[in-house]
Amino acid sequence: MTEYIINGKNRLSGKLKLQGSKNASLPVLAATLLTRSKCVIHNCPDLSDVRQSLNILTALGCDCTYEDNTAVIDSTNAFGTEINEQLMCAMRSSIIFLGAILSANGKATVSRPGGCELGPRPIDLHLSSLRKMGAEIFDFYGKLECSAKNGLIGCEIVLPIASVGATENIILASVLAKGKTVIRNAAKEPEISDLADFLNSCGANIKGVGGVTITIHGVERLHGAEFSVQPDRIVASTYLCATAVTGGELTLCEVKPSHLMPVLPYYTAVGCKMKIGESEIKLTAPNRLNSTGTIVTGEYPGFPTDAQPLFVAMSSVSKGASVFEEKIFNSRYRYIDGLNKLGADISVHDSVAVVKGVPTLYGANVEATDLRGGAAMIIGGLCAKDRTKIIDMGHIARGYENITENLVSIGAEIKVQET
Ligand code: UD1
Repeated sequence: MTEYIINGKNRLSGKLKLQGSKNASLPVLAATLLTRSKCVIHNCPDLSDVRQSLNILTALGCDCTYEDNTAVIDSTNAFGTEINEQLMCAMRSSIIFLGAILSANGKATVSRPGGCELGPRPIDLHLSSLRKMGAEIFDFYGKLECSAKNGLIGCEIVLPIASVGATENIILASVLAKGKTVIRNAAKEPEISDLADFLNSCGANIKGVGGVTITIHGVERLHGAEFSVQPDRIVASTYLCATAVTGGELTLCEVKPSHLMPVLPYYTAVGCKMKIGESEIKLTAPNRLNSTGTIVTGEYPGFPTDAQPLFVAMSSVSKGASVFEEKIFNSRYRYIDGLNKLGADISVHDSVAVVKGVPTLYGANVEATDLRGGAAMIIGGLCAKDRTKIIDMGHIARGYENITENLVSIGAEIKVQET
C-alpha cells in the first residue's frame, strides 16, 4: 500500500511537462494487435494501466518492450484469444481488447469486468454492438465466450449513449470487418481521435471522428506504424487545480490547449490569469479563488466527469458556493467524505454536490477512493494546514506518472511511503 504524506500550504510555482494520455494509450495499445506487425508507440505514460495493457498483449502472444515512454509491440504471432480473470480485473478498461481480439483472431474469451469504484460499469453497448456485427457471445457466469466464425460484418450501429469505450470497441472491431460500419451518436472525446489516427496510419479507413457519425470502411489488412500519444488533458487539469489552490503559478508544456477548452473558462472564472500558447498553458492564481459557479459534467465537448473531483477539491477553498452536477457516473462522489474530513463543507444530494467554500482545509488521514478521487485528496492536502496522509490502494499510479516528483519540483512537500 502506498501512502502520500503532504505538508500543505506551500505555494506551487514552476514549469511541468505534461505526460501522455492514459485513456488514449490504452485503445492504441489494443489496436496494435490488429496490425500483425511491429508498432512503435511514443509518449506512452509509465502507469500501472499501461503496464497491464502490455501484460495482456504479451499474454496474447505479442513481443513487447517498454522503455522511456516508448512501447514497441510486435503482434506478428499474437494468436492468443483469452484474457484471464486476473488480467481482466486488474484493469477495468481491458474490455477494450474484446473488439480487437475478436477481429484479429475470430474468437475471444474474457471475463466480465464487473463494477468499479465509480459504480456499475455496464458493457451492454459493447456486447450488443459486436453482436450486431455478427459476433456470437455467450455469458457463462461472467465469462464471455465470443466468436465470429464468418468474420465481423460492417453494419449501422446507433448508440443510445455516446459511450467512449463502446465507440472504441466498435472501431477496433470494424477496421478489418467486411464492408462499411457506421456509428451514430458516437463519442467525440479527443482520445478517440488518437485511436482513429493511429489506425488510419496503419492503413485503416476511418472517417468522421470528432463528429456524431463515424464511418469505417473495412480493409483487408493493416501494417505497423509509429505513433505518438496525445497529452493527458485530465492530468493537465490536475496540475492546474493543484497550483490554483496554493495561489501559485504554473507553466504546463506539451499540452494540447484545444482539448482543455471545456475546463479552461472555469480557471478564469475562479480568478486565475490564463495565458494560452500553441502547446503551453500558463496559470497564475490569486491568493483566494472565487467560486466556479455551476458545473455540469457531460460528454465531450462538455465538462469531463474525470475533472469533476479535481474542481470540487479546488472549489472547497474558494469564496462562496459552487454547485456540481454529475451526469455520467452515478457514484462519483465517494471521495467527498475525505474532503469533508479535511474540513471542506460539501453536501451531496443524488447527482448534485454543493460546495460551500471555506477559508482553509486542515490536514487529516484520508483515503484515495479511486483514481481521480485520489487526485482530489492530493489537491486538498496541498492547500491544507499541517499534515495530510493519503492512503492509496494503487489508484493514483493508474493514471499519474511521477506525480509526487512533479509536484515536489514545483514546491510541494510530499513524501511517499510503502507500507
Ligand atoms: C471512459 C474513460 C473514463 C471517462 C469516461 C467518460 C477510458 C479508459 N476511460 O470510460 O476515464 O470517465 O470515458 O468520459 O477511456 N454505459 C452503458 N453501457 C455500456 C457502456 C457505457 O450504459 O455498455 C454508460 C456508463 O455506465 C456511463 C456512460 O455510459 O454512464 C459513459 O460511459 P463510457 O463513455 O462508456 O465510459 P468508459 O468508456 O467506461
